[in-house]
Amino acid sequence: MFRTPFVGGGMISKETVQLIKEKADIVQVISQYVSLQKSGSGYKGLCPFHSEKTPSFHVNPVLKFYHCFGCGASGDVIKFVQEIEHLSFRDAVMRLARQVGIDIPISTVRSDFTVYTAYLSRVHAKYISQLNKSKEATAYLKARGFTNQQIDNFELGYCPERSTIAVEMAREMTLPLRKAASFGLIKQTNGKYVDRFSNRIIIPIRNDSENLVAFGARTLGHEEPKYLNSPETRYFSKGSMLFLFHIAKKVAKKLDFIVLTEGYFDALAFHRAGVTNAVAILGTALTPEHIAKIASSTKNVILCFDSDDAGERATIRALELLVKQGLNVAIANLTEDDPDSLYQKRGPSSLKESLKAALQYEKYIVSVVSRKHDLSVSAGVEEFLVALKPWAQLLLSQRRFERYNRFIESVSATTNLSAAQIDEFFRSRKLRTISKVEHHKRHLPSGEEYLVYLYLTHEDMRNEIHNVDKSLFSERSRLFFEKMRESRDQIDALDEELKVWALKILEAIPPGDPVKILNDVKKQLQRKSLERRISEIDLEFTSTEDSTRKMKLLSERQKIARLLDKLGGGTGAK
Ligand code: GTP
Ligand code: MN
Repeated sequence: MFRTPFVGGGMISKETVQLIKEKADIVQVISQYVSLQKSGSGYKGLCPFHSEKTPSFHVNPVLKFYHCFGCGASGDVIKFVQEIEHLSFRDAVMRLARQVGIDIPISTVRSDFTVYTAYLSRVHAKYISQLNKSKEATAYLKARGFTNQQIDNFELGYCPERSTIAVEMAREMTLPLRKAASFGLIKQTNGKYVDRFSNRIIIPIRNDSENLVAFGARTLGHEEPKYLNSPETRYFSKGSMLFLFHIAKKVAKKLDFIVLTEGYFDALAFHRAGVTNAVAILGTALTPEHIAKIASSTKNVILCFDSDDAGERATIRALELLVKQGLNVAIANLTEDDPDSLYQKRGPSSLKESLKAALQYEKYIVSVVSRKHDLSVSAGVEEFLVALKPWAQLLLSQRRFERYNRFIESVSATTNLSAAQIDEFFRSRKLRTISKVEHHKRHLPSGEEYLVYLYLTHEDMRNEIHNVDKSLFSERSRLFFEKMRESRDQIDALDEELKVWALKILEAIPPGDPVKILNDVKKQLQRKSLERRISEIDLEFTSTEDSTRKMKLLSERQKIARLLDKLGGGTGAK
């Protein structure tokens, strides 16, 4: 009998999680994925969650926390492993436990994700065998030019009409049907559970670790919708998934380019033609996550979207994102509707030719935009140039001068203007800049920030720091110290906002003599409070008529002034 995966699948205790967080060295863990350089009392590197050229991804061992000032990704060591490896919380904890040598009883090991992929895989196997049994489904694929070998290679399957294969499999695995439904393979109709994909070709979708995480499903005929995908689940999100990337990533790294298509069958066509560094987006727009994924294997992209108007618009949108992220893009020269029909009509070599004849993006843009304007009249030419200007400015701001020169040359070739005239127009006037560079305001750390720094980096000073009067501190520092006092110095008790704030402080302050710093800060606070007292005295002095009171105020003021003198002006901490 198949043992239920849920029996004994208890929670991992909070204590264990805490222990793992303490034991795992976040810098060392992240270093396995990101090359980190020292920065203040922390580290920084290129963010693995979005593509960037200058490091804005920071890791701090004291806070046991990472944060990217570019894309906002942040969290602790577990969250990092979760996100980078696309694991559930539990699986990330398990992996870290192994790394730091903590034993977690085996009964808790069978994770939700294991059940998920096991279920999908077993249903997939059934769908594969159904394909062999269905003449109609096989004929469909044959008509699209698939050989038996190709059908096997891509593990294509078929879900029969009104199938209950996935329902039965859930029962066999003692997987609650509601759970199976949340995994996206079955649905309820008229109170009864049936398979989600009825009478469709089944295309397996694997994640980067080659785990089966979803299905794409195409009708055999013209029913709507043409494609039905697994719904978004914990383990499948279209916005971060590239079809066939688990194969393409290695090849793309080696060949140093990737082919990006719009549809399952387009990516499959390339693979059938031996171009195995091709991927497809799954009926969504290109996202920053997609781009980060691509950029992790190569900076060179050949876009191969459909050649119709919609495909052209999608190409321009994708181009904008890719170019802004610093990727090199060329656009394939398709002589048919899409790569799949090119393959079917003209054979595998035609796909390779379409890549060889790819157009660099700066030329592609000129050609696409020129078709939208009447270049035989001067108003049309002006509009044409205005439409191109943001692209010109993007190229200039990215200092891609070679591309920029090719760009203006091809504008010049399309108009009667000289390259110099065009250059002047593109550089003239201030136009909105496409990419905004964030300028962090430099500011000197304040006394309270020094105190936060000391608190975090010198455990032995924490008691003393808790005793410092914080009534003059900003709201945020007061909150910080309150939290720390309440939680008995559990840094993990800080919320994300406070952690990001503390991380900035840790990086801004160069290491110095802690005793001197503390003394300087105390002096400075004393000054501040004395100065505040003086202004209170001055206020009261002008508003009171009572002459005895006035005398008293004057003498207090003198005393304070002497104290201030003694304290001296210069403190190390400003
Ligand atoms: P074929 O007709 O099978 O060659 O498909 P195609 O790849 O030419 O289709 P199209 O260019 O219309 O769509 C490209 C991609 O968008 C497909 O591979 C799907 O991922 C997605 N897509 C297309 N139609 C639908 C739909 O009706 N629903 C959903 N969810 N996705 C779709
Ligand atoms: Mn097609």
